[in-house]
Amino acid sequence: MGEQNDVLFSITTRHLNTGLRGFPVGTVRTSRVDPMEGVSYVGYSVKDLANLDPEAVVYLMFNKELPNAEQLSAFKADLASRANLPEGVAAMVTGLPKQGHPMEWLIAGLNLLGMTGKTNDYTEDALNLIARTPELVATVFRQRSGWGAPIESKPELGLVENFVQMMGVPGADAGKLTALLRTFYILHMDHGGGNLSTFTGKAVASGLADIYASLGAAMAGLYGPRHGRANQDCLAFVRSVGTTDADEIEAMVRTRMANKQLVFGFGHAVLRAEDPRATIQYELGKEICPNDALFQTALALRERAVKVLKENPKISNPYPNVDAVSGTLLNSQGLTDSDYYTVLFGFARIAGIAAQIVDERVNFRNGKGVAIYRCSFKAENQDPRSLNS
Ligand code: MLT
Repeated sequence: MGEQNDVLFSITTRHLNTGLRGFPVGTVRTSRVDPMEGVSYVGYSVKDLANLDPEAVVYLMFNKELPNAEQLSAFKADLASRANLPEGVAAMVTGLPKQGHPMEWLIAGLNLLGMTGKTNDYTEDALNLIARTPELVATVFRQRSGWGAPIESKPELGLVENFVQMMGVPGADAGKLTALLRTFYILHMDHGGGNLSTFTGKAVASGLADIYASLGAAMAGLYGPRHGRANQDCLAFVRSVGTTDADEIEAMVRTRMANKQLVFGFGHAVLRAEDPRATIQYELGKEICPNDALFQTALALRERAVKVLKENPKISNPYPNVDAVSGTLLNSQGLTDSDYYTVLFGFARIAGIAAQIVDERVNFRNGKGVAIYRCSFKAENQDPRSLNS
């Protein structure tokens, strides 16, 4: 870290109303996003972590080092011991209105967990929440989708393994789905401190709201189509292409560009190269669904959309992001309803945001915690009529 008084940049009125682009937001010890290299967790490239046990990466978020075998098995046992949902939560979630979006169910479920099981110790609550999320999210999937009676939780199987068996996705190959979701969970766990959901969760927690309410707010941030819900729109886009022919796909991208329509799954606020989370998923797709027609479409888009987008000098990042192919892979493994994809993103991101909240509330400033978020700027004191919007 630099000296206490390092000048990071100077703020002018031009920076107002730009969605805090370029503004640093506190310090983040769990992950870092490099424009060219993409995300790393505590100094480890996500490429080197993608095949580990998901619990090892959760451990890394909290302890800032990878566990040895003994530490990992103790941590898994600890999470398993925390996994049961408090009495009545599953029934209350099951009763939520079916017309609600799965993310609205998740947000309601998080608040129900807070009402029924909080300890008011940020670390305890964070670990309890991470351990209980598999059953909560499986309940959201199964009950809202009408897949039948709940399947008993077996937390000793592991976080993602138990989640897959509790979902009981009709017709799915459990081995392949588990492999996909283990990687998906790790890749979506954290992305620095400046993404909307993380920023929101930490801001809400800075007022000393508990972790459940803070994560509920964070998930409301993730719910928006400009953030986590983009993954569901990406699958709709890939489905709408309707061909695997690269030349036809290139022509379609050109038409969209001419009509000023979005090319979903390409570009990112920070990244300036292909998102490593996308690269890893393309490679995984070649293993688990190489002949899937939508996957072929996604691969052709990766080649031709980048080619077309690169021709436009105004586009700072023409490359695929994390959402470009995630929905295609989920769809190939039986999770065909894209309305649920953001819930899977949230399932993973809860771990990263919870770890960042614990750092801000319990660890930083010698245990005093980060001050309540309170943005201010000289412009607040200026005559509003003198400022452009
Ligand atoms: C994320 O993973 O949060 C997204 O890539 C969005 C972001 O980093 O702003």
